[in-house]
Amino acid sequence: MSKLIIGNWKLNPMGLNEAVALASGISFSVSPEMYENLVLLPPFIFLEELVKRFKHISWGAQDFFWEKKGAFTGEISLPMLKDVGVEWVLVGHSERRRFFGENDEIVNKKTLSALAADFNTIVAVGELQKDDPEETVVESFKKSIQSASQYNLKRLVVAYEPVWAVGTGEADDPARANRLIGQLRRAAFKMLGDESNGIRFLYGGSVTAENTRKFLGQLNIDGALVGGASLNQEEFVNILKTAQAV
Ligand code: PGA
Repeated sequence: MSKLIIGNWKLNPMGLNEAVALASGISFSVSPEMYENLVLLPPFIFLEELVKRFKHISWGAQDFFWEKKGAFTGEISLPMLKDVGVEWVLVGHSERRRFFGENDEIVNKKTLSALAADFNTIVAVGELQKDDPEETVVESFKKSIQSASQYNLKRLVVAYEPVWAVGTGEADDPARANRLIGQLRRAAFKMLGDESNGIRFLYGGSVTAENTRKFLGQLNIDGALVGGASLNQEEFVNILKTAQAV
């Protein structure tokens, strides 16, 4: 199965023109087959325009609120995203957990609401410190996806992102990430049985054009969640090309 590459633009770029330029640069540099395994997550405000202009790319939101509508100032709901043609959402990114107080319970609520609304749902989990026990990731993962069995798990993507590796330039050791994702796969199987085979597991945290091959060459790793490097057109295109060649 081809490797999935997700570009998380975070709070970038600062204007629509720049966002369109980045999307066009990527779009013109990759072959049509690559679009199938590419998802881009820009800030909310650019989503509608990007979806309209680049229909062949899968676009997703970096966050959302689980209620459909109502008195929730500042929030964006899943029906609103669907209305502008968005089919992917990210849940529980470490920056949401760290700066916006999202915990496993909130992440679980969002995960279930996104799966219930038939979104392709990317759930991020990872330990804070390098020497945290691996068990903490497994526990957080189990809480984050609890009760997901009632939904189509082919829509579920799990991104293992050690927080100490996110945005630091210090990527995890690919073999270690592979082993840890193996633990997540086993935990998913225990919780969800054979259906868990539909879940894709990605690595994220300081992925670059240079280290992509090492991560994607690991047996348990189905793709990568790329932050900083997804804002650099040339580097990101190289990551996509590597992913296709693995
Ligand atoms: P990074 O971010 O690639 O810049 O480390 C990864 C992420 O935030 O998902």
